[in-house]
Amino acid sequence: MRLPTAVNVFDVGCRDGFQMEKQFIPTSEKVAIVNRLARLGFRKMEITSFVSPRAVPQMQDAALVVAGAERVAGVTYAALVPNMKGAQRALETGVDELNVVFSVSESHNRANLRMPVADSLKNVADVISLARDQGGKPVNVSLATSFGCPFEGEVPRERVLKLAREALAMGAASLSFADTTGMANPRQVYELLGSFRDQFPDVQVTLHFHNTRAMGMANILAGLQAGVTNFDAALGGLGGCPFAPGASGNVATEDVVHMLEEMGISTGIDLDGLLETARYLEKVIGRTLPGQIMKAGKVKDLHPLACEQ
Ligand code: COA
Ligand code: ZN
Repeated sequence: MRLPTAVNVFDVGCRDGFQMEKQFIPTSEKVAIVNRLARLGFRKMEITSFVSPRAVPQMQDAALVVAGAERVAGVTYAALVPNMKGAQRALETGVDELNVVFSVSESHNRANLRMPVADSLKNVADVISLARDQGGKPVNVSLATSFGCPFEGEVPRERVLKLAREALAMGAASLSFADTTGMANPRQVYELLGSFRDQFPDVQVTLHFHNTRAMGMANILAGLQAGVTNFDAALGGLGGCPFAPGASGNVATEDVVHMLEEMGISTGIDLDGLLETARYLEKVIGRTLPGQIMKAGKVKDLHPLACEQ
C-alpha cells in the first residue's frame, strides 16, 4: 500500500461542528474548546465563520471567538467566509487565513449562499484581492458538493476541475474539496483527486468528508492513496451544513487521528488530549458525540481480560 509517512489533520469542529447546534453554545465554552485543541498539535484549525447571523445564529459571536483564541505558535487560525462582508469582518479580527466557500452545484449554492455560482465566483475573486490588499492573508477556496449534491445528485468531475482551475487562477492559496453531505465513495475520491493532482501536482489540497453514509474513513484512505496529505475533521464527529437536507457530522477528528496513527502515519496530534477535549465537548452540548473512538476506546486501550470473552 502506498501511503505517506505524515499527514495534517485540521480540526473544523468549532465551525462545521458548532454551526449545526441549535442551542447557542456560550462564547466562553467555544473559546475554551478552541484553546484546548490548539495545544494538541494541530497546524491549522477552522475556529468559526463570519456568515450572516440571521442565516446561522450560532456563529454570531465569531469575532469574540477569534479574540479569545490564545494564538498558540505554529497553529494557523482560519475562519470560513461566504462573501465580502464576512471577509472584511474576519480580516478585522486578525485571523491567519480565510476559507471562502461556494458550491459546485447551482442548487446547493443557492440554498446555502442564496446566489448563483457565477456570483459566488465573483465573490471569491473579490475576497482574494481584499485579503491580498489587507496584509496578504492566504485564502483557501472550498468547493462544497464536490462529490455530489443533495438536490441534483451527481456532480460532473469536469465541472469540479473547471471550477478548481478558476479558483486557482484567481489566486487561491490552496483548495479544499468538500463532500458536504456524505455522498462520496472511495473510488470517486481516488479518481477525482488523481485527475486533480495530475493537473496541479504542486497545489495544496485538503479533503473534507462528512460521514453521513459511513464512507468517511474509507474516503480518507482513498485520498491518502491519491497522494493527499491534508484532511479536515471535526472533534467528536459533530457537524453538517444547515442548508442541506439530512446533513450529518464530519469524520470525527479523534477517529481520523486514531486510524492514521494505527497505520503508522504521523499526525503530530495528541490523541489522549483529543479524547479529553471531546469528553469536555460532550458536557458542553449535553449529549453523546457520534465519534467511534469515544465509545470503543483506542485499539491500544484494550484490556487483556476483554480478550477472554
Ligand atoms: N456577516 C454578517 N452579516 C452579513 C454577512 C456576513 N458575512 N453577509 C450578509 N450579511 C447581512 C447583510 O449586511 C444584510 O443585513 P441587513 O439586512 O441588516 O442589511 C443581510 O445579512 C442580508 O444580506 P444579503 O447580502 O442580502 O445576504 P443574504 O440574506 O442573501 O444571505 C449569505 C447571503 C451568504 C450572507 C447568507 O446566506 C450566509 O451567511 N450563508 C452562510 C451559510 C452557512 O454558514 N453555511 C454553512 C457553511 S458552508
Ligand atoms: Zn462540512
